[in-house]
Parts: sequence; structure tokens; C-alpha cells
Amino acid sequence: MSLIIRGGTIVNAHGSAKGDVLCDGGKIIAIGVDIDAPIDAEVIDASGQYVMPGGIDPHTHMQLPFMGTVASEDFFTGTAAAMAGGTTSIIDFVIPDPEQPLMEAYNTWRGWAEKASADYAFHVAVTWWDDSVHKDMGTLVHDEGVTSFKHFMAYKNAIMAEDEVLYNSFTRALELGAIPTVHAENGEMVFQLQQKLLAEGKTGPEAHPLSRPPAAEGEAANRAIRMAEVIGSPLYIVHVSTLDALNEIIRAKGEGQQVYGEVLAGHLMIDDSVYKHPDFETAAAHVMSPPFRAKEHQVALWKGLQSGALQTTATDHCCFCADQKAAGKDNFTLIPNGTGGVEDRMAVLWTHGVGTGRLTNEEFVACTSTNAARIFNLHPHKGVIAEGADADIVVWDPEATRTISVKTHHQKVDFNIFEGMEVKGNPSHTISRGKLTYIQGELRAEKGAGRYQKRKPFSPLTRK
Ligand code: URP
Ligand code: ZN
Ligand code: ZN
Repeated sequence: MSLIIRGGTIVNAHGSAKGDVLCDGGKIIAIGVDIDAPIDAEVIDASGQYVMPGGIDPHTHMQLPFMGTVASEDFFTGTAAAMAGGTTSIIDFVIPDPEQPLMEAYNTWRGWAEKASADYAFHVAVTWWDDSVHKDMGTLVHDEGVTSFKHFMAYKNAIMAEDEVLYNSFTRALELGAIPTVHAENGEMVFQLQQKLLAEGKTGPEAHPLSRPPAAEGEAANRAIRMAEVIGSPLYIVHVSTLDALNEIIRAKGEGQQVYGEVLAGHLMIDDSVYKHPDFETAAAHVMSPPFRAKEHQVALWKGLQSGALQTTATDHCCFCADQKAAGKDNFTLIPNGTGGVEDRMAVLWTHGVGTGRLTNEEFVACTSTNAARIFNLHPHKGVIAEGADADIVVWDPEATRTISVKTHHQKVDFNIFEGMEVKGNPSHTISRGKLTYIQGELRAEKGAGRYQKRKPFSPLTRK
């Protein structure tokens, strides 16, 4: 059945205009003023509201097996919560164990993701290297439409990629027209600091940020950027949390390098005082890597987003409940790292970005949807309201308010890092490939309705 959204202001990254949007067969088929629609079309009155591309969260970890446990949010619950907040696509991560064939891990994750209610794609992590990894990267790009590869420069003795792996994988990615991405923290430095802090009897969550200083992120960002420079590959740095890493990106961009930066809603809003909370559960609930930082980094990250040095916003949605976090009660290095937010990113960014005058409506669309679609080659069928694009749409009510709370969120986790935050600007309707999945508080997400998104490689020389 067709659906028409009437009378809203259509906001794209490239501009805004009043008009109607007609959807059919999962696509946007017409845009214009007072356009005709089939008599039986479902009608959404969007007057006084914005009609924007559904959010794309390029960094989530649904049901990730990590640090001895499994993230509490699965692909169904996580994508459903995403749609309650206006996000219609996620890019999650396949993370093979060292020595595990990439294709085996990829097929496992594809199986898990079959229950997703929103569309999804995968970055595949390269955690080790041999000829089979070289070959599987080719298969992933050419046959499976995976065009981004992830490298963890942290998590020593687990999934950390040494420089040799980075070098080989960035080189192969360039050859294939794929983009390498990194979690930039010096894993050796973190490991040594963790041992030192534990030896000093500092075992609680307050030691977590001390073990991961801004310099460890700055060093790794610089190393990855320099490696990409020598190889000639583009680079995307996930969850940039410090001025140190941001300055490396700004320098490299200024020298003409193709470097992209992502910032998390959490890193924009939350500072490192949370780790000093007297209650273990609350402090541990904030343990993620890189950690929340001192306030001056938040100021810098907002400026990075405003200036375009950082292009995308994400959540790194990786949820662990209190009983899982309790594994690190006597040793902070055993607290599973991760926090949530996939449901709240859009409202937090709107409230603190658009609502404060830091971002225009169009810049909001760019950094919550379009830029991720472009960088990861989901564009032009995602990330834009245009004829022929997927009908992934959020109808955004700029006057709607809510107080974020674990008591009302849809995320499958017993904590919310934005607890108590008043947000103004929320979705009234979320539409996923032409189907209404969220209507004024009613979540209609359907298990298994999400589709895997195959992506095309870029030309290695032009990234066009
Ligand atoms: O703490 C985090 N971020 N957990 C998920 C894995 C990662 O580093 O992205
Ligand atoms: Zn990470
Ligand atoms: Zn992550």
C-alpha cells in the first residue's frame, strides 16, 4: 500500500523545502507540492514537522560476544529501539576471533542479524593476518558487498590488530575499493597502565579512564593516519573522543588526506566524572572505550562536528546489564566495555545540536544520516529524501518533548547513560522502506523485516 506524507518541511543535507512525499513499494516515488496520491494511500499529516532521511547509526554492536559475555541487545530489540528514536539503518560489526576465518564469522553474524527489524550492513573486523584473510577480504567486497573493514588498535591479547595487520589490511582495502576504519587507542599503553593501576590497588571503575589517557588515543590516531598516508588509503576513525585525535584528523585533512571522523552522542554529552560515582553499578555502567573524557574534550568534539572535521555521529551501542558489568567488581579491566544509546542519538543531537544553534537542520541530517550513507556507500538509496531512494523516513516533531529514562526506553538494557535528560524534538513517525514502524509512541517494528544492505566498492583512486 502507498503512503503519503503531506505538508511537512522536507529536510535534506543539501537543503529544505515544503512538500509532500509519496512512497510505494518501499521507495519514494514522488515529491512535490499537493501531489496526487492513490485514493487508498495512508496519509500522514506532517504540518509543522520535518520530514527527514531516517537516521543511520554507523557503529553498533548487537549481541556482540565480548569480554566473556554477550551484549544484551539483539538485532531485533536493538533495531526496534533504533526505530523508536528515528534511526532506520545500522552498520554493525562482524568481529572474528584471531585465527577465525573472516567468512565463518561473517556468516555467523549474518545469521544473527536475520531477525533485525531495520535495514543493516556490516563492517568486518580484521583481527589477524594471513593469505586467507587477504582472500576473504576480496570475497567480502566482491560477493557480499562489505566495503569497510575495522581494526581495533586496543584490546591487547584479544582482538587488537598489530601494525603489521593494519599495514596489510589497509593496503588490501585500497586495492579493493573499501575503506579501513580504526578504533584508535594504543593497546600496549592501555595494557601497561592497567597492570600498573591494579598493582597500585586501583581496582575500581575510577581507574578505567586513567588506563586510557587521551594521549593513547592521539598516538593511535596519528599512527593510523600516517599509515593510511603512506599507503594512500582513505581512513575512518570511529568514536573520536579527544582533542588529541581530533587535532590529528584536522592536520591530515589540511594536508589533503581523506580522513573521516565519527563522534558518539555519549562523548558529546557525558564527562569523566561519572567514573567517580560512589556506587559501583552506576560507574561501571559508564565503562566503555574510549572512556568519557574531561569536559574540554566535549567542547572540542562539538566544534569538530560543527566545522566538518567530524562527519558522522554514532552510538557504539553495546549494552551490558548490571549483572554482566559485575564481572569487574574487583578488577575494572574485567568490566565489559560498552554503553547504549541507539534509541536516543537523534533526539540528543537535535536537542543539543539544533536546539542550541550549533547545527542547522540540514547539518543535523548530514551528521545523523547522509554523511554515513556517503562514506559507507549506502547513498543514494539511503540518507536522502529523493525520488527513487528507499522510503526510510523520520517525521520529526520539533515541539515534542520527553525525558529519557531506562523506565520508558525500548533498549534491552537496565541503564541509560542519558537518564533524566529532557529532549525537545522527537520522531512522531518512523518509516522503514515504506512501512510505518513507529507512530506517536506505538512501536510496530517487525522481526525479520530488515534487509542486509550490499554495498558497492569505490574506485580505489577516486572513491566515486
Ligand atoms: O566500549 C566499547 N566501545 N565497546 C564496544 C567495542 C568497541 O570498542 O567499539
Ligand atoms: Zn571501539
Ligand atoms: Zn564499537
